[in-house]
Amino acid sequence: MQNQQNQIETIRMPSIIRETIKIFRQRGKTVGLVPTMGALHNGHLALVRRSSIENDATIVSIFVNPLQFGANEDFAKYPRNISDDKDKLKEIGNVVLFMPDDMLMYPKGYSTYIDIGEIGTRLCGKYRPGHFNGVATVVCKLLNLIKPDRAYFGLKDYQQIVIIKKLVNELNMDIDILTAQTVREYDGLAMSSRNAYLNSEERKDAQLIYKALKTVETQLLDKSITPADVQSLMESTLRTGSHVKEIQYASIFDHETLIDISTSNVNNYKGKKVLLAAAVIIGSTRLIDNLLIEL
Ligand code: PAF
Repeated sequence: MQNQQNQIETIRMPSIIRETIKIFRQRGKTVGLVPTMGALHNGHLALVRRSSIENDATIVSIFVNPLQFGANEDFAKYPRNISDDKDKLKEIGNVVLFMPDDMLMYPKGYSTYIDIGEIGTRLCGKYRPGHFNGVATVVCKLLNLIKPDRAYFGLKDYQQIVIIKKLVNELNMDIDILTAQTVREYDGLAMSSRNAYLNSEERKDAQLIYKALKTVETQLLDKSITPADVQSLMESTLRTGSHVKEIQYASIFDHETLIDISTSNVNNYKGKKVLLAAAVIIGSTRLIDNLLIEL
């Protein structure tokens, strides 16, 4: 929905977005939600386009959620390009932008949080304690506020999707959580708002993440390696980059429990999906990526 100046309709107040949704509902419209933290790239825009096709109305939320950043993380410097974001959304059209500020989402005295449990302590959760509880809390608030028919998330944040599906299921929300393939740059680097932090040398090394994932995928599928070899092969590919400062994890995981299966019997996973995933610090930027493959 756009107004006369061809501007994107922007709502800041939770009470107003609730009213807007009520009106959509009274008119029998279906609603899609694409939650984001802004700095929109083609990965986000693919989700918005899909929602626009599958729903009568699409809400895109832009909210850099302080709850999901640790004390030493990049909350303050997280890229914020609202005017670019609006231009990109305008091109898609039929979108309402919900952009609350921190005090509207977490007013003084706010004290209700989701604890997603152990799954939030695996993979990224091990290195970002509390991150997934912060994600779960804000996503729960957005889903309650907007009550979409469908909400859309990119597969780059695979663990986030597992957690959001669990949250929606366990809190009995009647919302379809839909996922879309990771959108990649020409050399395979997964699109991410954080790629903007990389200088040109770091950017070259960043492509090694996808290269490492694809190398192990090929060798697992042609059976020249087993899950036990995944970690060392990924690490040796990643370590060829001089700006690769830390490999937090680079391994093979059960795609539902997110437990590392590198020491499991490969026969248990024959014909099943598994997750290859990595989190790597390049320069001072933490990047993640994954591939879901069938053994
Ligand atoms: O994926 C993101 O951008 C965020 O984690 C989300 C889902 C918008 C919650 O803040």
